[in-house]
Amino acid sequence: MAKLTVVGRAGEERTIEGTEGVSVMELIRDNGFDELLALCGGCCSCATCHVHVENGFDDRLPPMSEDESDLLDSSDHRDAHSRLSCQIVFTAALDGLKVRIAEED
Ligand code: FES
Repeated sequence: MAKLTVVGRAGEERTIEGTEGVSVMELIRDNGFDELLALCGGCCSCATCHVHVENGFDDRLPPMSEDESDLLDSSDHRDAHSRLSCQIVFTAALDGLKVRIAEED
């Protein structure tokens, strides 16, 4: 099964099974990383599911919508690899993806 590696805010790293068709936000949250708040539940309206894509997978991810980009602009920690994890649906093509949970705003 495809793997997803998650790095928590304290630097702890864990590789989990990535279920296809499930958002990266849900995968992170369902595997016990409670620092990813995901307050809006994936409706693209809170930005508390912000992650940084770590290993050059940016081009393999679905394109960023204007709404996602606008929300990320509200974060002090946005960088060139920022994404909202609720907007990334995990697929086999993302096997090996590594994301770091963004600093809290
Ligand atoms: S969970 Fe709210 S924007 Fe992703």
